Amino acid sequence: MPREGARFAGSRVLVTGGAHGIGRACARWLAGEGARVAVADLDLAAATEVVTALDSTESGGEHRGDQPAEHLAVELDVTDDDSVRAAVAAAADHLGGLDVLVNVAGGDVEHPDFEHTGDDVWAWTLELNLMSVVRCTRAAMPHLRRSTLSPAVVSVTSVNALAALGSEPYSTAKLGIVALTRNLGAELGPAGIRVNAVAPGTVRTRVWDSQEGGAERMLPLYPLGRVGEPDDIAAAVAFLASREAGWITGHTLPVDGGLLTGHRHL
Ligand SMILES: NC(=O)c1ccc[n+]([C@@H]2O[C@H](COP(=O)([O-])OP(=O)(O)OC[C@H]3O[C@@H](n4cnc5c(N)ncnc54)[C@H](O)[C@@H]3O)[C@@H](O)[C@H]2O)c1
Repeated sequence: MPREGARFAGSRVLVTGGAHGIGRACARWLAGEGARVAVADLDLAAATEVVTALDSTESGGEHRGDQPAEHLAVELDVTDDDSVRAAVAAAADHLGGLDVLVNVAGGDVEHPDFEHTGDDVWAWTLELNLMSVVRCTRAAMPHLRRSTLSPAVVSVTSVNALAALGSEPYSTAKLGIVALTRNLGAELGPAGIRVNAVAPGTVRTRVWDSQEGGAERMLPLYPLGRVGEPDDIAAAVAFLASREAGWITGHTLPVDGGLLTGHRHL
C-alpha cells in the first residue's frame, strides 16, 4: 500500500518506455509514492515483469490472481499512432483516467558522422524521439483535461539538446522536445495542465553496455564525480509531476551532475 500522505496517492500515471532503464525507475518511483501506473513499452514481456514486481511489492508479495491488478503492462510502439492511441485508451480504461503522462521511450541509433548520415537515420531518430512525444501527449490530452488531480506531462529529453555533445539527429530531436514543452506549457497552462521536461546527462542504463568503458568513460565530464543512476532522473520527474511543482511549466530541467556548468571543458 502507498505511504500515507504519498504525493501521488490516487494519481493515474502512464509511463512510456517503462520496461527498462529510466522509464522503469520512473514507474517504480511513482508507484512507490502511491500512483497506479500503466507501464507501456515495445517490450511487453519486460513491462509485465515490472508490473508483476510492483503489484507483489504493494501486496507484501501476496498478490492474488483473483484480484484486479493495481498497475498495467501495455504494449506500445511510440512510432505508430494507432498503437499509441490504443495503449493510451487501454491505460485510461484500466486506471479509470489519466493524471500524469511520462514520456520516456526514445534513444539514439548507431550512425556515421553528419556528412555520411542519410535521411533514413534522421527520419527514424525524429520519429522515435520527437514525434513519439507529440503522439503520446496528443493522445493523452483528452484524459488529462478531465483530470482534477494536478494533471502534468513530463518528458525525457537529453543534455544533448542543450549543448554540442554530438549525434546531430538525436540532439535535434531532443531539442524539439524542449520547444514542444515550452509551447505546450503556455498553451495548456490555462487548462491547468503543466508540461515540463528533464534533460539527463549520462545515466547508467543498458544503452551504455555496448560502448567500451560503458557509462563510466564519461565520468571526467561530471563535476559531481559520478554518472547518473536511473533514480536520479526518476526523482526529478516525480518532483515535476507533483503538486510541489504546481507553479512550474514549460521548463526543461537539466539533471546532469553539473555537466552543463562546463567547467571541465575550459
Ligand atoms: N541513458 C542515458 O544516458 C540517457 C541520457 C539522456 C537521455 N536519455 C533518454 O532517456 C530515455 C530512456 O533511455 P534509457 O537509457 O533508459 O534506455 P533503455 O533502452 O534502457 O529504455 C528505453 C525504453 O524504451 C522502450 N522503447 C524503445 N523503443 C520504443 C518504441 N518504439 N515504443 C515504445 N517503447 C520503446 C524500450 O523497450 C525500453 O524499455 C530515452 O528517451 C533516452 O534518449 C538517456
